[in-house]
Amino acid sequence: MTARGGASDCEALAGGMVNAGAVFRRGAVVDRPAPRNAQAIHTCLSALKEQGFEGAPTPVGPAADGREQLTFIPGEVALPPFPRWVLTAAALRSVGSLLRRLHEASAAVGVDASADWSLDLADPEGGTLLCHNDVCPENVVFRDGRAAALIDFDLAAPGRPLWDVAMTARYWVPMLDPASATVSYPDGLDAPARLRILADSYGLSSQDRAELPGVIEQATESCRAFVADRVAEGDPVYVQALTARGGWERWNRMQAWLVAHRETFTTTLLD
Ligand SMILES: Nc1ncnc2c1ncn2[C@@H]1O[C@H](COP(=O)(O)OP(=O)(O)O)[C@@H](O)[C@H]1O
Ligand SMILES: [Mg+2]
Repeated sequence: MTARGGASDCEALAGGMVNAGAVFRRGAVVDRPAPRNAQAIHTCLSALKEQGFEGAPTPVGPAADGREQLTFIPGEVALPPFPRWVLTAAALRSVGSLLRRLHEASAAVGVDASADWSLDLADPEGGTLLCHNDVCPENVVFRDGRAAALIDFDLAAPGRPLWDVAMTARYWVPMLDPASATVSYPDGLDAPARLRILADSYGLSSQDRAELPGVIEQATESCRAFVADRVAEGDPVYVQALTARGGWERWNRMQAWLVAHRETFTTTLLD
């Protein structure tokens, strides 16, 4: 906990990579760097709230001076190395069902496809639903061992729901080769079984299940391209993270592992 500006109720929130050290809590409000397209995100978050969706923060006024204020969501957020409680089957199920509720609420309010969305991790095939696109453990608030809310909508964009399920699977199964997974996740997670739990709890159709392993490969490629763009720009956060995690060799390994297990994933999903 860090006090800033002498205010004793100001607490630095740990968790993210991009805004590390720049996210603060002041009572019921989170103060963080505003994404370039904060207005589009705020409009959508407000509409979700009006629709009755409680699983996302709500903007508190407009973004100004490069900062934004959102409601603080009480609960626990797991940080790496991830503890076992956040990787139970029940926790995973709750993530799948929360993602489904986000998509249903977003379908009910509609998403303005012409608004200024981030293209960084957006579904290349587009879509009509709001995809969060960055449902990693650090962006999910838990209460009583269950996912209560998604935070950090900076990379959200319209897309296919299946795309968001694929992105979520990458982090929550996780869809990583064992050597890559062991850096942040406990040992012994059964990837095909957990992928099936995510699909079941989301309520994925048979057709989407058949497509999911391929879309996870596509999403992984998008994530790799995103990192490659940042590294090419010389962004120190991404350059350092890439090196620390094993360079492009790790991405090659993750991608080869997905291809090698594609059949197993498909069979387990459709069994
Ligand atoms: N609205 C919120 N409610 C509760 N906790 C939050 C909220 N926003 C951020 N946090 C906490 O702060 C951490 C970093 O915030 P985040 O906006 O995700 O930063 P980054 O953009 O760097 O990922 C999160 O992992 C979470 O622990
Ligand atoms: Mg975050």
